[in-house]
Parts: sequence; C-alpha cells; structure tokens
Amino acid sequence: MLLHSASQLLTLAGGPQRGHELGRLGIIPNGAVLIRSGIIEAVGSTSDLQAAYPDEPEFDALDRVVMPGFVDPHTHLIWAGDRAAEFEMRLEGKTYLEILEAGGGILSTVRATRSASLTSLLDQTRLRLWSMFEHGTTTAEAKTGYGLKTAAELRLLQALLALNREGPMDLAITFLGAHAIAPEYIGQADAYTDLICNTMLPMIKEWWPLHAPELPLPFVDVFCEKGAFDLAQTRRILETACNLGFPLKIHADEFLNLGGVPLAVELNAVSADHLVKTSQEDIRLLGQSDTVAVALPCTPFGLAESDYTPAKEILAADGILALASDLNPGTAWCGNMQFVIALACRYLKLTPAQAIAAATINAAAAIQQANQIGSIEVGKQADLIVLEVDDYRHLGYRFGTNLVKTVIKQGRIYPV
Ligand code: NIG
Ligand code: FE
Repeated sequence: MLLHSASQLLTLAGGPQRGHELGRLGIIPNGAVLIRSGIIEAVGSTSDLQAAYPDEPEFDALDRVVMPGFVDPHTHLIWAGDRAAEFEMRLEGKTYLEILEAGGGILSTVRATRSASLTSLLDQTRLRLWSMFEHGTTTAEAKTGYGLKTAAELRLLQALLALNREGPMDLAITFLGAHAIAPEYIGQADAYTDLICNTMLPMIKEWWPLHAPELPLPFVDVFCEKGAFDLAQTRRILETACNLGFPLKIHADEFLNLGGVPLAVELNAVSADHLVKTSQEDIRLLGQSDTVAVALPCTPFGLAESDYTPAKEILAADGILALASDLNPGTAWCGNMQFVIALACRYLKLTPAQAIAAATINAAAAIQQANQIGSIEVGKQADLIVLEVDDYRHLGYRFGTNLVKTVIKQGRIYPV
C-alpha cells in the first residue's frame, strides 16, 4: 500500500533524541510511505514514491498530518472496578497517601481485581485498550500490580499476554508485584520484599519462557515511595531482578524523593518514571545516563497538584525525556496521549514538537523498542496515525477532542 499526500509526514527519523535535540520531527512535506506486509518499505515525497511504485494500491491522506502511532511507556492498564468514591474524598481534603495508609487506594483496587472473574477483568481492560488505540496509541507498556500475591500476579501476567495476542495493540509487559505492600503483609514490608525476591521473581523467570517464548523477559518495576517500598527494599528487588536478567524500571520521586534516581542510574534501569520531586543532582545523574526519564503529567493533573516533572531541566542536563499516561484508577484514568501532550506543553513547557518526539521515538526507547517502532523509517513496523489536521502543532494546542482519524497498525487500516 502506498500512503500518500500527507501535508506533513513526521518521520521522527534518527533514533532517540537526547537533551536539546528533542523535537526533531524530520518532516517531509507532501510525504508518502510504502507499506508491505506490515513493514515500512520506503519513505519520501508523494511525487517520488508515486513514480517509483505506480501499481501499488493507494491510501490518500488527504493533505493531513501522518506520524508514528503514539507509544505509551507507562500504564497500569489491567484492573477491575473504580475509585470514584476516593476521588470525592480527595476533593474533600484527604491525600492520596493517607487513603493508601488507611487500606484504600491501590489496596482497594487489589481487592476488586482479585475478586473479578477473568472474563470481567479482560472485558474491562479491553475497553480501555480500544479507547487508547482510537486515540492513536499503537504500543503500550502494561504493568501488573493489582494482584500482590504470587498466583494473582501470574494471573495478571497471563491476562496481559492474552490481550497482547488478541491485538491490535502491542503490549510491553511489566511485573509490578512491588506496587504496594500486599494486604497480607501490612506492617511487614520486609517479609513481602522477601516474597518478591525469593519466590515471585525466580518463579516468573521460569514461567515466562514457557508462556511467552516469543517475547523478551518482562520489565520489573518498583513503587519506591513512603508507604510503599523504601530505598533498601527497592534496591533488594531491583538487584535481584537484575541478577535474574530482567530489565528494570522504577517509580521514583512521585511524592517524596527517597533516592530512587541514583539507584536507577547505578543499576542501568531502562527508565525512571514520575520524577516530580527530583533534585538537581539527580537530574544531572539522569542526564549522564541512558536511563530514560518518563514524565507522567496526567498524574499531578489528576491529583490536582501543582508540581510537575522538571522537564526543561532534564533536557538542559542532556537527559532522554519521554511522556506516558500512567493510566490507572487512582491518580490518572486517562490513556489519551493527545491529552498527555496538551498537559506537557502547558505544565512541562514543551513545544508540540518536543512533546511529540517524547511520545513516540523516546517513548519507544523507554520500553527498549526504538529499533522497531516510534518513527517512520524503512524496516520499522508500519504503526502510523493520520490526524484530521494539516499542521502538527494542533497536537498540544487543542485538547479534549480526538484528532486521530485513522490508525494504521502493522499496515492494517482502522478508521476511527
Ligand atoms: O503511578 N504510584 C503508583 N502507582 C500509580 C497509582 C496507582 C493507583 O493509585 O492505583 C501511579 O500513580
Ligand atoms: Fe505508575
């Protein structure tokens, strides 16, 4: 198929974008893309590609923006139920961490998720997946973390693998058994940490190749936070995971700075996420590392807080910045990367071009897939979106409506 007549073809070519390089869109005016068997085979101007491939079935982009599908590198996609009552409590003055300490928050979603039937859990999750897809996300990271028991966490891994096979969204799966102290271990965080290190991680290492031989090992993530895992426990879990060969991620500095960033950099984590209370020294460390800094602006927005990730400082320090939704029932029930971009432009002070690069090629780097997705380059998977606008700056500028007209996933066309 020859997709042609894109007003602006945003290629994002050239790999992940560090520091002030961020925002290099690689625009081809009146652009075209040749797609065969789900792979990008040629990229260029409409006139060149029409001359070179005259017999190809055509897809007319009608003078609209065409760009890579969004990559969402941080979601808590799979859960059951909702926390609308807690949203109301927070508006009446309770804080997120107070609700968690009182046995609500993540633990209330753990109860709902454990007791949901597999069918119901899959149905609820699938609805969210399709909504993300229609808003232009073609690959998403998805964490477990609402099971917090060996069998319950394995059930979530299995459900995510099933959804990944079902498609069309590709999922990059993360084990987040260290999302909160399990209800059975309240007051015994070290004992729960032992369970993760001595039982869960070795078991998943054996289990994974039997259930997903085609996929690399999942990421292992830890919520390093007061009321969740302290720095010593986080280190134990991440070091154990690293020794077993798992790639690492961390939730760091969301509410308090416990020292998660230096640990992530030391262990060469693939990404460090949230980064709201991150210090100048930590920003400097990130900038000198290959750990991707993932900002989640829906989270402070969802909590009505005023501090956001110091994105400009991360760029000034030469960091690799990515954007993600953090889709979850507690702080940010939003899987729409267009809205993430709109928030990033306002609160992280990114330009639309910077935010777009952070939500595509750099987001792909945050899940170790920058070689396959996140840009429009020969040899990459044909995951593209066609917008209903002819200038990319409408992304970020406009919010609250869906600007995606068509999603093309592995070469297959899905009208929105
Ligand atoms: O990234 N911080 C930990 N996890 C989520 C919230 C999950 C929840 O509240 O259910 C986050 O904000
Ligand atoms: Fe999160």
